[in-house]
Amino acid sequence: MSIKAVIAGCGGYLPATVMTNDDLSKLVDTSDEWIRERTGIRERHIAAEDEKTSDLAVKAAEAALAAAGYAPQDIDLIIVATTTPDLTFPSTAAIVQAKLGVAAGAAFDIQAVCTGFIYALSTAEKFIASGQYKRALVIGAETFSRILDWTDRGTCVLFGDGAGAFVLEGMEEAEAGGRGVINSYLRCDGQLVDLLYVDGGVSSTQTTGHVRMQGNKVFREAVNRISEAMEWVAADAGVDIRSVDWVVPHQANERIIRGVVKKLDLEPEQVISTIAGQGNTSAASIPLAYCQAVGDGRIKPGDLVLLEGMGGGLTWGAALLRA
Ligand code: ACO
Repeated sequence: MSIKAVIAGCGGYLPATVMTNDDLSKLVDTSDEWIRERTGIRERHIAAEDEKTSDLAVKAAEAALAAAGYAPQDIDLIIVATTTPDLTFPSTAAIVQAKLGVAAGAAFDIQAVCTGFIYALSTAEKFIASGQYKRALVIGAETFSRILDWTDRGTCVLFGDGAGAFVLEGMEEAEAGGRGVINSYLRCDGQLVDLLYVDGGVSSTQTTGHVRMQGNKVFREAVNRISEAMEWVAADAGVDIRSVDWVVPHQANERIIRGVVKKLDLEPEQVISTIAGQGNTSAASIPLAYCQAVGDGRIKPGDLVLLEGMGGGLTWGAALLRA
């Protein structure tokens, strides 16, 4: 009898401060019209000075635990997907473990930039399916505003801060009743590092650095790679991609999402989009969008859901699950 990794609950957290496109137009030469037309973004949330990535992650984790009906003591694995850790070490997951008061098990970070949550979910699913851990917190959390160059209009208008979390629980297949993570697909092409990277780091500059992106080149790569991942993950599971109930994309750009929908002949109504109010929150965007759709009643238990993402590396991937 195999063990399935079932989503027992999810939660999200967005910092209180909202930065609109008009606010940004006071910092750089841009406009609300340009940002909305090119990206679909209207506003994003920015963490307070004293809010760290781990604080956002803890709030999302607490909401996910409450939704699942579990206490921190019930968790034995924490994986945090982040590009903006509190410290170089220890991992943000270790800090989250301490703040939540989880006493047992393992905790580590995963770094795959905007694909981080797909990488983290896939990793947690494998640990749970192996029986090594029983209940995992899988968190995507970012204070991306801290690595933006606020003089570069090509990048600073795109990103926001936030966190989202899943509680993944191991269940015997019969008990799971078809629910749980079904399949995942992870890819990286390190040859494309120059398209999207941070120009600093511990071992190179001893600084944090700032996001550098050749946006139009990333855009050109995005639709094909994301579509490839979504098609593969569905076909490999024997699922017709048009039969999925919901697509929860990484929220990088509304035009990329529309391009994928068109290429795969999906319906725009199948897609969960939060980009207008949140921007690109990197590893947090997929669980934040998923939780919003669970919260407003769109994603229901038993629905077939396809997650996808692409980010620095380049990395890209997809995951298929039954809610
Ligand atoms: N406001 C006004 N004008 C701008 C802005 C801005 N904020 N930013 C760029 N422009 C200008 C450029 O300077 C350029 O002007 P020029 O023609 O005079 O040289 C013009 O707009 C067009 O620039 P492009 O970069 O070609 O614009 P594009 O239509 O490609 O849109 C964007 C830019 C929104 C960044 C788009 O390329 C995009 O979304 N790329 C993908 C981003 C992404 O998916 N990232 C991956 C995930 S992020 C992660 O992994 C961390």
